[in-house]
Amino acid sequence: MSRLLTLASLLFLSSSAAVASSSCIAFDSSWNLLAFGFGGKDYNAGTMDSWSSGTPTDITTNGRPPFDGKNATCYLSQFFNAVYVLNGDSANPNNVYIYDAGAKSWSTQATTPGSFDFSNFNAILDHDTNVFYALSKGELFFLSFDGITTSAKSDAIAWTDVQKAPYPDGYQPVMALAQNHIHFLNVPDTPAGSADIFVIHFSFFQPDPQSYGNFPATHGQTTSIFLSEAQQVQQEFAFIPDDGSATFIINVENNNTRSLAGPSTKDAGATYFASDSAIVQFSSSGALSYIPYKTGGDTSGSWSPIQKLASLAGSSSSSSGSGSGTSTAKSGSQTSGSGSGSSSGSVSGSGSNSTSDNNGAMGVAERSVSVVFGMGGALVLGTIAIMLC
Ligand SMILES: *[C@@H]1O[C@H](CO)[C@@H](O)[C@H](O)[C@H]1NC(C)=O
Ligand SMILES: *[C@@H]1O[C@H](CO)[C@@H](O)[C@H](O)[C@H]1NC(C)=O
Ligand SMILES: *[C@@H]1O[C@H](CO)[C@@H](O)[C@H](O)[C@H]1NC(C)=O
Repeated sequence: MSRLLTLASLLFLSSSAAVASSSCIAFDSSWNLLAFGFGGKDYNAGTMDSWSSGTPTDITTNGRPPFDGKNATCYLSQFFNAVYVLNGDSANPNNVYIYDAGAKSWSTQATTPGSFDFSNFNAILDHDTNVFYALSKGELFFLSFDGITTSAKSDAIAWTDVQKAPYPDGYQPVMALAQNHIHFLNVPDTPAGSADIFVIHFSFFQPDPQSYGNFPATHGQTTSIFLSEAQQVQQEFAFIPDDGSATFIINVENNNTRSLAGPSTKDAGATYFASDSAIVQFSSSGALSYIPYKTGGDTSGSWSPIQKLASLAGSSSSSSGSGSGTSTAKSGSQTSGSGSGSSSGSVSGSGSNSTSDNNGAMGVAERSVSVVFGMGGALVLGTIAIMLC
């Protein structure tokens, strides 16, 4: 066993020198789960009812960002069935990539950042106006995609500095969108269960926090829960504290908070993306899992791995590994006896904090796509383990 672990460490060390990609997930407006930048490809995993098995559709096509940077983030423009990607291209950091999910095509929108810092921000895309708002180094900016919708304009558009946020220096933004209001959680001196609010339509920071019930004042991740009916504005958002202890659902209509189970993988580096009926966790080791949830609905759901994307693992075993080799090594050693070439189950099992030492990372997490690569390492390890026995 110790020899196996040593080999695992060696493999990890050698593979961690490989370039770790950055990727992101999003839903389209029909609630297909899209996974971008997985081993150099993009996939459509279909709707929630199909996630327990099968293989996703390869949607990789021309014009896509290389997903070679850090901290790529994706946003759904629900009205236009478009996904916008920030930080998808390290060589061209000012570009915002637009995926027209209906036409299955990409275009590239140039932006002029001014003092906006792409390496340090947290952002939301406003539902009704199609305008990004981002907090970067204490300053609130907007970038308007009104009029851009599904394809880029030829002219660059500017990030506009709105004003300094009335929050203490060093505030690590936890931002969530609902009812066209930006909710800032964990602002210093704001009590637990309350959010500070920026009212987008009036470009106005509310002076007093709003109470929403019961959730901790701590850093975490958020995602808005979409509504299908008439493509209404979101009324709820999910808040997952860094410790993963619960999934809080904050309803900004009735000012209440309910809670769902915390994700099985506790990972401060995970990010989340919700449809109208599921909240998906994308862990820092690249594993995907989900919990069913609809606005105002049943809170008794539990988290399950998205097997349909885990199964990508088997197909890319020739690729080199990435930073999350350690977690793979753990599962590799467990599965080495099976000799199975298939990948199912092993990715999600992760006690995988491998890359999550970057706790405290701000809203946007770097994510290596070892879902794809990791299994190759696991298979190699399995082979080594068998050879040692
Ligand atoms: C990625 O995000 C981390 C955490 O917020 C930050 O420290 C780092 O500078 C970012 N890197 C880039 C290249 O944007
Ligand atoms: C929620 O709080 C706001 C602000 O205090 C208030 O205007 C609104 O009526 C409250 N909603 C409900 C359903 O109590
Ligand atoms: C995961 O991270 C948590 C918090 O940092 C730590 O307590 C736990 O031991 C880690 N688990 C593994 C499997 O490394």
